[in-house]
This record gives sequence, C-alpha cells and structure tokens, in this order.
Amino acid sequence: MYTEIIEIKDLSTNTKKEGIIRELCIDDIEEMIKLQNDVVNYLENKEMFITLSREEIEYIFDGNGYIFGLILEGKIFAYVGVVYPKEREDNLGLDLNLDQEDLEYVVHLETAVVHPKVRGNRMQFQLAKRVVEKVIELNQMKYILNTVSPLNIASIMTTLDLGLVIKDLKEKYNGKLRYVSALKIHTEKINFKTNMKVPIEDYKKQLELIKKGFVGISYYKCEEGIYLCYGVME
Ligand SMILES: CC(C)(COP(=O)(O)OP(=O)(O)OC[C@H]1O[C@@H](n2cnc3c(N)ncnc32)[C@H](O)[C@@H]1OP(=O)(O)O)[C@@H](O)C(=O)NCCC(=O)NCCS
Repeated sequence: MYTEIIEIKDLSTNTKKEGIIRELCIDDIEEMIKLQNDVVNYLENKEMFITLSREEIEYIFDGNGYIFGLILEGKIFAYVGVVYPKEREDNLGLDLNLDQEDLEYVVHLETAVVHPKVRGNRMQFQLAKRVVEKVIELNQMKYILNTVSPLNIASIMTTLDLGLVIKDLKEKYNGKLRYVSALKIHTEKINFKTNMKVPIEDYKKQLELIKKGFVGISYYKCEEGIYLCYGVME
C-alpha cells in the first residue's frame, strides 16, 4: 500500500509537522465518517459539499475505487478518493454523452475532505494528484470525471490544476449547480485556441461559451476577483 512522508504547515501556530500520506482501508471508516461530519459542521455553506454515506464509502473499499488520506499524529486529517461508477445511473459519463461502451472506463474523483487545521497546504490537490497518478498507472480507465460547486474555489483550482476541463455547468443533486469536468487519460497534450476570460460568478456567459463548444481550461486570480479561462480545442 502507498505510504509517503510529507511536511505539513500548521497555519495557526506557524509550525511544521510531519504527516503521512497513505492509502486508506475499511478499518479507517469510522474515523473518516467522523472527519466528514466535523468538516460539514465547520462549513458555512453546506450546499457546496455532498457527503458520502457509510454504504458509499464501503462500496469504494469493496474494490470499486480507492482513497488516499493524510495522517497527522496518528489521526486522519484529510482524504480524497475515486470511485468506479460502472453501470450506476449517476455515472457522469451520461451527463457528458460518452459512448455507452466507454461508461465502464469512467472514474469519478469523488470525495475530498480536509480538516480546517491543515487548510492552506493545498491538501486536496496533493492527495488528488496522487490518486490521479494511481488511476493513470493502473491503466484500466479512460476518463476521470468530477462535479464541483461553482462556489468551491479550492476544488475548482484542484480540478483545473489536475488537467480536467470544465465541460458543463448544470443542476445536479436535486437542483444544486455544478461544473462537470473531464480528463481523458492517455491523450496527447491538447492545444486550445480563442481563449476567453470570464468572471467566475458570470454563469450566464460561461453557459453561452459552453454551448458554443468552449471548455473551461484554467483559472486566473487577480485583485478584482477570480476568472475562468475558456477555450476551444484545436
Ligand atoms: C475544498 C477543500 C477540500 C480544500 O481544502 P484545501 O486543499 O486544504 O484548500 P486550501 O486551504 O489549501 O486552499 C486551496 C486554494 O484555494 C484558494 N481558495 C479557497 N477559497 C478561496 C476563495 N473563496 N477565494 C479565492 N481563493 C480561495 C486558497 O487561497 C488556495 O489557493 P493558493 O494555494 O493559491 O493560496 C476543503 O475546503 C474542504 O474540505 N471543504 C469541505 C468539503 C468540500 O467542499 N469538498 C470538496 C467537494 S467534494
């Protein structure tokens, strides 16, 4: 099982600690559920995050994905995972009109939970990067897909930094607005033309661009706010 030592900044005390990144297993489930509940309690806007049920976590550990976690002083402080949705009706490949035969090769970047105590370490990205590397190494899947709330800046940054592109902005999970993003694994680097910068809160403009065939490829932070860059594949 994957294990790695990593340095973690504690922003509240301005100190550094040694953490461990390792693959989690079914024995970790109680601690994971507790961490998820703690993180939800801290959230001001609960719309941003859909929690996983115990059954959904068990499904992942039952050979349908995997989860990497950060351990600090013997406790789990963060985790990010993937799930293989296979023929389930929530397969995001259906939202993106993938071919029927490709649906079994879809991986969802599913859950990301980071305790406020370790925020500021880009832990979601660090764990997601390792998870995605494993998907690529295993060489069994074709698409990495996810959904992210347009209000969840950290997750949008993680999604785009991992190389996924925003393919849609639509209502999911009982009317909650979500970006649907995708990375096609093992493809040559894609070049984009006609880059357009749109304020992250301008959903109308983004939807117009998506309808014209644009995809969201990167973000740009400046004093006025955050912008998403949309482009068309060459
Ligand atoms: C989303 C989450 C996983 C991110 O945690 P994290 O990786 O520790 O995030 P960080 O604190 O390191 O922030 C990552 C980046 O987002 C930026 N960011 C976060 N909120 C921001 C905002 N409102 N405006 C601008 N930038 C913002 C941070 O500045 C940082 O960027 P930087 O590295 O350039 O400074 C965490 O907030 C969390 O657990 N949230 C609740 C659960 C959730 O929403 N999960 C994701 C959906 S599945």
